[in-house]
Amino acid sequence: MRTRFSLIVLTIVILGFTTLSSGGTFDKAEYKARRVKLMQSIPDGIAVIIGSEGEKQKSNFIYFTGVEEPFSILIIDGMKKETILFLPSVESREKILEETGVDRVMPLAQFSRLLFSYQAQTNIIYTPFNRADAGYVPKGLIDPDNRLSREMNFISQIKKNFPCFRFKDLNHAIAELRVIKSPAEIEVMREAARISSLAHIEVLRSAKPGMYEWELEAIYEYTIKRLGGQGFGYEPIIPSDPKWYDSHYSENSRKIEDGDMVMPDVGGEYNYYVVDISATFPINGKFTPEQKRLNRIICAVENAMQKVFRPGIRSIDMKAEVQEIVAKQGIDLDKEGVYRIEANHWIGLDVHDVIGAGISSRTTILKPGMVLASDPAIKIRDKNGNVIGGVKIENTILITEDGCENLTHLVPRTVEEIEKVMAEKGIHDYLKKKDK
Ligand code: GLY
Ligand code: MN
Repeated sequence: MRTRFSLIVLTIVILGFTTLSSGGTFDKAEYKARRVKLMQSIPDGIAVIIGSEGEKQKSNFIYFTGVEEPFSILIIDGMKKETILFLPSVESREKILEETGVDRVMPLAQFSRLLFSYQAQTNIIYTPFNRADAGYVPKGLIDPDNRLSREMNFISQIKKNFPCFRFKDLNHAIAELRVIKSPAEIEVMREAARISSLAHIEVLRSAKPGMYEWELEAIYEYTIKRLGGQGFGYEPIIPSDPKWYDSHYSENSRKIEDGDMVMPDVGGEYNYYVVDISATFPINGKFTPEQKRLNRIICAVENAMQKVFRPGIRSIDMKAEVQEIVAKQGIDLDKEGVYRIEANHWIGLDVHDVIGAGISSRTTILKPGMVLASDPAIKIRDKNGNVIGGVKIENTILITEDGCENLTHLVPRTVEEIEKVMAEKGIHDYLKKKDK
């Protein structure tokens, strides 16, 4: 496990788990149920899922096994309805069988032999086609390094050795499972949300003019880890220059001057699950009248979105209802230039969860258990089109049976809430530089 023992004990208490014998965050019955559901999508073949190379375990692998050991491979046999786990070394077969609930555990060295034997039963291998893992290659560019993701490389190696196999993309079938979070997953996400929200509060307390963006980053990281998280759920984005508002800027190197608004987009990871939070606040702790006006608008829109999110709708269709609610407060969405009134992306094991697997957060009919980003924003531009101001709020939202729950509700949002927290002392206030 990625947490210390005391935190595991705490997790057991918080989540009410009776056992962590699976070796993962959840009971082995939960992992098994996920694998059994996947079997229904692959009745004519086997699924092969590879683990990490030594970095953090891959999301799909952890989802089906809870196993963190790198260089592991999972076969889920949709024909015989059995699961085989290959590990680099198998010290105690019984222990691993007991912890994971898989049917067979084998040393990695036997993977090829087993694959060979499958040729008599099927020629179909389902595996995630993860092209993007190899890094970003701009569209239209011939990649000079010819980088294939590990998954695509793996496919080409199997093809070379066993030309009879045909490959089918498993991403959609996995995404259909991962997009609906179980009650146990939701509890873990609640904890990720709690510690990440407390990190935002600690940053608000410490933020002062003259600090660098990276200092706020450090306070986020310290607080998330101090509270039992493993660190950032994604690259922290802490722009204080409007030019970088609502972007993926993560240099976080700028000195934040009095009068600047900071727009952090930062969420933590807890037991592999992440949340996504954005906020906008004045570094000096006091909103100007125009900043107050923008904050009031974005809070009204975000609150209206949380009234509208519910099972049975598509997020792409929600704008009219949101407009109707905020119009009663004198706000015209289009006149104010509010954009992204929809579920921007799913959230779970990844911040852009199950992205590219054909289940759009915009056009899919929402169901209970889905977790999504709600992140309306406004950008103010000068006459040349340069961004000179703006505001964004982002919450991690769970769709419930009859509406939604804001998992990141602890983050201060109104002007009054933010100014009150910013007037409190934070970690930074206790770290005095030596007198010259
Ligand atoms: N939190 C970063 C993003 O959603 O792109
Ligand atoms: Mn986001």
